[in-house]
Amino acid sequence: MVVRIGSVEIQNNLLLSPLAGYTDLVYRRLIRSLGGLGLAFTEFVNPRGIMNGNSRTIQLVETAPDDRPLTVQLFGTDADELADAAVLMAERGSLTIDINFGCPVPKVAGKGGGSGVLRHCPDAVRIAQTVVKKSPCPVTVKTRLGWEMGDLVAPALARQLEDVGVAALTIHGRYGMQKFAGQVDLPGIRAVVEAVRHIPVFGNGDIQTPQDAARMIDQTGCAGVMIGRRALGDLWIFRDVNEYLSTGIVPSPPTRLERTRKMIEHFYAIVAHAGPERAVIDFRKRITPYTKFIGPCPTLRRGIPCAKSMGEWEDLVFRFVEELEQNELETTALGEHAV
Ligand SMILES: Cc1cc2nc3c(=O)[nH]c(=O)nc-3n(C[C@H](O)[C@H](O)[C@H](O)COP(=O)(O)O)c2cc1C
Repeated sequence: MVVRIGSVEIQNNLLLSPLAGYTDLVYRRLIRSLGGLGLAFTEFVNPRGIMNGNSRTIQLVETAPDDRPLTVQLFGTDADELADAAVLMAERGSLTIDINFGCPVPKVAGKGGGSGVLRHCPDAVRIAQTVVKKSPCPVTVKTRLGWEMGDLVAPALARQLEDVGVAALTIHGRYGMQKFAGQVDLPGIRAVVEAVRHIPVFGNGDIQTPQDAARMIDQTGCAGVMIGRRALGDLWIFRDVNEYLSTGIVPSPPTRLERTRKMIEHFYAIVAHAGPERAVIDFRKRITPYTKFIGPCPTLRRGIPCAKSMGEWEDLVFRFVEELEQNELETTALGEHAV
């Protein structure tokens, strides 16, 4: 299902969340190769870092022609700075620009950025208006339901953001104070969907399965969904949700061996892009989500976070792959025997 966001279109209604420390170029390419994704987001980046050419920030917004469509997400409270960075990012290939009004971490929210802005919504409207006026591409906003638990400010804010030209919204169905606790509040998201006139609202939070995505769309009326944490360990989730929403059928899941091979592909893609040391370090955090779906693998779960070199990483992983291959051979042989 094509979705229009201001002057642009995306080919379906599934978005990859911005996830700080995870949703980089290498990872986005891997997700794209499996299909089903409508639009990917970078993690949130500091506009000042972009404007100053800070090398770490520039790395965070690294992209390539095969990494489209892409949205760069910006955070901060200085409207002019955000607007200038939006112009630069649009020139460098960002299809739309997203403003982060959702981050709950004290370092950001405490200074009135991220979801901290929900304690004073006129600031959010003023910032968004400034960015919209200057940005050559559509501007979107990702936010939460409000700051204080139960203080649902997002519907009225959504309407005001639409009035100043924001082209789409993503609503994580929690309050800032909640961080990630509790369950996503679907009626809260629905209230936002009902508050706007034309712009698409994407629902976000706790989507683990294609059925969860369908439920969010059914119960809130949102135009599409954004998926984050599930996609870190299950790279097939967009393919699965897309297939389910279009046909009602969930594709058969990849085997443990296929999942492990995809993880290995990820590792070598980081090696090729940033070198073996980076890959080994990066995988210390990336292994946990992968192991959730690979199934029992204590040697990987405990060993990979301690691996000090590419050789150690490979020893652990390839020994595990041999075990899996052996198991598969035995299962096949048993099956043939039974026939
Ligand atoms: C490790 C991590 C990093 C995140 N980084 C960002 C970020 O940079 N920008 C943002 O808007 N949200 C960020 N989020 C929030 C997610 O985008 C998403 O809204 C949230 O995880 C709920 O969706 P999910 O249940 O599908 O993961 C982050 C979440 C996690 C767990």
